[in-house]
Amino acid sequence: MIDDLVNVADFERAAEGKLDPGIAGYFFGGACDEVTLGENVSAWRHWRLRPRMLAGHREWRTESELLGGGLSMPILVAPVAYQRLVDPDGELAMARAAAAVGTAMCLSTLATARPGEVAAAAPEGRRWFQLYCFRDEGVTRALVEEAVGSGFEAIVVTVDAPRGGRRERDLRTGFRIPEGLGVPSVQAALGSERAVTIEETFALMDPALGWADLERIASECGVPVLVKGVLTAEDAALAVEHGAAGVVVSNHGGRQLDCVPATADALPEVVDAVEGRVPVLVDGGVRRGTDVAIALALGADAVLVGRPALWGLAVGGEAGALKVLRLLRAELELALALCGCDSPDALARTHVKRTPAASVYSA
Ligand SMILES: Cc1cc2nc3c(=O)[nH]c(=O)nc-3n(C[C@H](O)[C@H](O)[C@H](O)COP(=O)(O)O)c2cc1C
Repeated sequence: MIDDLVNVADFERAAEGKLDPGIAGYFFGGACDEVTLGENVSAWRHWRLRPRMLAGHREWRTESELLGGGLSMPILVAPVAYQRLVDPDGELAMARAAAAVGTAMCLSTLATARPGEVAAAAPEGRRWFQLYCFRDEGVTRALVEEAVGSGFEAIVVTVDAPRGGRRERDLRTGFRIPEGLGVPSVQAALGSERAVTIEETFALMDPALGWADLERIASECGVPVLVKGVLTAEDAALAVEHGAAGVVVSNHGGRQLDCVPATADALPEVVDAVEGRVPVLVDGGVRRGTDVAIALALGADAVLVGRPALWGLAVGGEAGALKVLRLLRAELELALALCGCDSPDALARTHVKRTPAASVYSA
């Protein structure tokens, strides 16, 4: 079946048709009126590429460097919770797909597989761990130690979720994470004998996390720490000052605070504030290779994709996720070639301009 799907939108439709409505609502949905969810996708379309002709290239490459290691493309797999809801192998299949295409996967704290299992499933893959911080520092430390001990190269601290967003699709469908589908690394870190529910897990997280905590985590954990969920120049500057090794421009895929800017709109001010001191990544609404090209031209070092990879996993397991990642890579390569660029690094702000139509939206 996946042979007939030619782009991410095809995977989105196929996943919607396949998944139980409650599960689909959980993965597709956003917060409140889903203003930001929709604008994340449309905002990339408010930019236009300015391609250069007769550039004289015969070969194009999508490879890039991030945090001292190579990637086959500047497109990573974003942390998405509870992947066993859509595929029996869940995060293990996703990790294999990411490794097969040569990119890194970021594993959620709310994963249904432990870091060690993910490492064993795809030992050759590059892996990062997304961290939610708990009130009990010992729990947070145990999660970090397990991930770092399993070869995870970076910790990505998510800072946009002091409380969970209001997901009205879930309220309407009455969706609940099935009992028994727990988060084994959190369970182990808590020393609990039974699976902990998502509500219990959220209640144990620390809503009062501050920049000093980030600085402490960055100094303690022994691997680079990135901050995920930054939308303003002010917070980008604070993240760098407090030891972040990278900043991820993200609004959690429109699932936390509604009516925040689309990430395409927040990206330029963050890039300008960071001034090249650390890598800037962005996620949210990336559905096409041209979206990736626009993000890179605006100054991002890489993007992450959440739902697209998840749709691939839902539709075709590991092979489905792999096909989505390969499609995005092929689309990016074509976009580079048609822009007159032979590599991701060659894209600059001169390769993009805002469409006149976007001025109404951005006013
Ligand atoms: C169902 C779902 C679960 C998510 N779980 C997490 C999570 O556990 N931790 C986290 O930092 N971000 C989480 N995110 C946000 C993603 O990491 C990412 O920011 C977002 O999906 C990017 O937008 P996109 O889906 O349009 O690519 C989740 C997103 C979705 C859709």
